[in-house]
Amino acid sequence: MGRLDGKVALISGGARGIGGAMATRMLQEGAKVVVGDVLDDDGAALAAQLGDGARYVHLDVTKPADWEQAVGEAVDAFGGLSILVNNAGIVNFGRIDDYPHEQWARIIEVNLTGVFNGIKAAVPALARSSPAAIINVSSIAGLRGYEQLAGYTASKFGVRGLTKSAALDLGGLGIRVNSVHPGVIQTPMTEGMTFDTGHVPLHRVGQPTEVADLAVYLAADESSFVTGAEFVIDGGETAGSVAANPADAPEN
Ligand SMILES: NC(=O)c1ccc[n+]([C@@H]2O[C@H](COP(=O)([O-])OP(=O)(O)OC[C@H]3O[C@@H](n4cnc5c(N)ncnc54)[C@H](O)[C@@H]3O)[C@@H](O)[C@H]2O)c1
Repeated sequence: MGRLDGKVALISGGARGIGGAMATRMLQEGAKVVVGDVLDDDGAALAAQLGDGARYVHLDVTKPADWEQAVGEAVDAFGGLSILVNNAGIVNFGRIDDYPHEQWARIIEVNLTGVFNGIKAAVPALARSSPAAIINVSSIAGLRGYEQLAGYTASKFGVRGLTKSAALDLGGLGIRVNSVHPGVIQTPMTEGMTFDTGHVPLHRVGQPTEVADLAVYLAADESSFVTGAEFVIDGGETAGSVAANPADAPEN
């Protein structure tokens, strides 16, 4: 018995990284999975590797027409849609006084308006397949500020707020809506970046599979009384700092 038997998931940005891990885990738990992304080669390769229970669709989250097609693919191929994961995201950097308007507009369009577009397109199908779940991937940058990340931080705070409001609107339709707030996770997005994890309680970065395990819980009926909530998965980073060297800890 899989924890997601009988469910159908649509995962944006599902070709690789956290979204790819979610597709793999949800399929293992019995869901059918539609992977949507702009990376067509990677997405098609992943769907082929996952087999009959998976499909790939080209999905640019900024385009409402792409969303309509992606939802349609889930319904046509697998008979409905019960899980939407708004995972697609980009990052860009710059000090706020030197941060171009174009970069701001682009990150809000993908990371925040993309989530709104997904919810709008998916709600009718989700309501028909209820109990249903929407999982919005925010970040710990949706909980506190980070320097040189004004656009990213604003977009991820926005996803957190959108999640709360959508949860209120959609509860009566049998659709739960929650947000996930990862710390640093080892994916193509963070490749080449250096992170000091010395002060993080678990002293390491996270793996995409660990975020995928949380998403399975939020997608499954076992979280049936959970909505409008935020789930931090960050090795303790936002709980506070620990001594980088355990020998320097206060009790020593
Ligand atoms: N990696 C981290 O440390 C971390 C931490 C917190 C939150 N997140 C969030 O997790 C999510 C997944 O990130 P990841 O680390 O797996 O990065 P990633 O770059 O490996 O994956 C992001 C995916 O989104 C896709 N994408 C980008 N723009 C798109 C668009 N317009 N339409 C559809 N797909 C698009 C990319 O092609 C890619 O496949 C993002 O929302 C990211 O902000 C990541």
